[in-house]
Amino acid sequence: MFRFRLFSCLSVAALVAVIAPSIGRANPFPDANVAQGKAYHEELCVECHTRRFGGEEGSGAYLRENRRVKTPEALTQMLTACTTALKLELFPEDEYHIAGYLNQRFYRFGLK
Ligand code: HEC
Repeated sequence: MFRFRLFSCLSVAALVAVIAPSIGRANPFPDANVAQGKAYHEELCVECHTRRFGGEEGSGAYLRENRRVKTPEALTQMLTACTTALKLELFPEDEYHIAGYLNQRFYRFGLK
């Protein structure tokens, strides 16, 4: 009996050790339509970012040394900060698609 309990404790611990890191690293925007996000990004975001930060597709904004976005949550926040400042009135799901695109192309949270 004791041995059985010890064994099940160990196997739970082992399971957590295996699963926990992959949960931490999971793609934060799994349902994003990346192609749609890319199209919006080209239409609405690239010109200004390129002008200000340079880089291919305005990538300087996302890849600069002192960039703001260091977590998926910050990505959502900064993205909304830009769309709000620009009064774009995108639907939340459209912002989600753009976030999914930016993550896949530049930030790579949960995808490395
Ligand atoms: C009129 C100019 C302009 C447009 C258009 C614009 N942005 Fe920005 N964006 C900025 C500026 C300026 C910053 C840097 C802000 C800062 O560092 O405080 C920025 C920063 C960001 C960042 C954070 C980058 C980082 O990691 O530091 C994200 C994400 C972002 N923009 C998303 C978008 C998206 C998505 C769109 C299009 C829907 C967009 N922006 C359109 C000017 C713009």
